[in-house]
Amino acid sequence: MTYQSTRLRLAEISLGDLDAIHHLHSFPEVDEFNTLGIPSSIDETKEYLTPLIQAQKVTPRKSYFWKIELLEASAFIGIAGMTLSSDKFKRGEIYYKLLPNYWGKGYATEIGRLLIRVGFNDFNLHRIEAGVATENVKSISVLEKIGMAREGLHRKILPIRGEWKDNYHYAIVEGDLKDN
Ligand SMILES: CC(C)(COP(=O)(O)OP(=O)(O)OC[C@H]1O[C@@H](n2cnc3c(N)ncnc32)[C@H](O)[C@@H]1OP(=O)(O)O)[C@@H](O)C(=O)NCCC(=O)NCCS
Repeated sequence: MTYQSTRLRLAEISLGDLDAIHHLHSFPEVDEFNTLGIPSSIDETKEYLTPLIQAQKVTPRKSYFWKIELLEASAFIGIAGMTLSSDKFKRGEIYYKLLPNYWGKGYATEIGRLLIRVGFNDFNLHRIEAGVATENVKSISVLEKIGMAREGLHRKILPIRGEWKDNYHYAIVEGDLKDN
């Protein structure tokens, strides 16, 4: 199953994407506000990726991890994901990461909007959430552009390079976009 926006496509990952995903996670600027840390080897990336691929076979499916491709060139430019709550709560949490070469072109905003559309229309969610380090101004700008509202602050919750960093909690609720 793939999902498309004007310029981009979300497609399921496979082990064939291991090198591209390892490369993405190797950039210090991609890792700057990430709790994952830069992988020390491709085996570490494989260990990270394997459960995300196995999740494709779990029913009901609760975790999605896609590669982001440019429609025009079928080039890998990053990853996006969504984790779902139990059916009763109809909640999803989104995230995304792009290769630095592709920053500043509105791609994250486009992917964020697509994730929201998929969440509400295809996954029948009621509420979509995202967490962002308070210093991650680019991602905060993306979340606000796509219509998410800052709901709170989690103090010293993110272990990043030996420090505890603060995280903002963002969300958009079914119907919010219609009210804009
Ligand atoms: C955050 C990230 C996804 C943004 O991707 P992107 O494709 O460059 O984002 P967009 O081009 O859609 O939008 C970026 C916005 O940040 C703004 N921005 C850039 N630098 C900024 C700064 N120093 N201060 C404030 N805003 C800034 C841009 O102006 C743009 O907003 P605009 O379109 O209104 O001008 C990308 O930098 C990334 O992958 N970072 C590493 C991983 C990460 O942090 N992921 C998010 C985890 S919550």
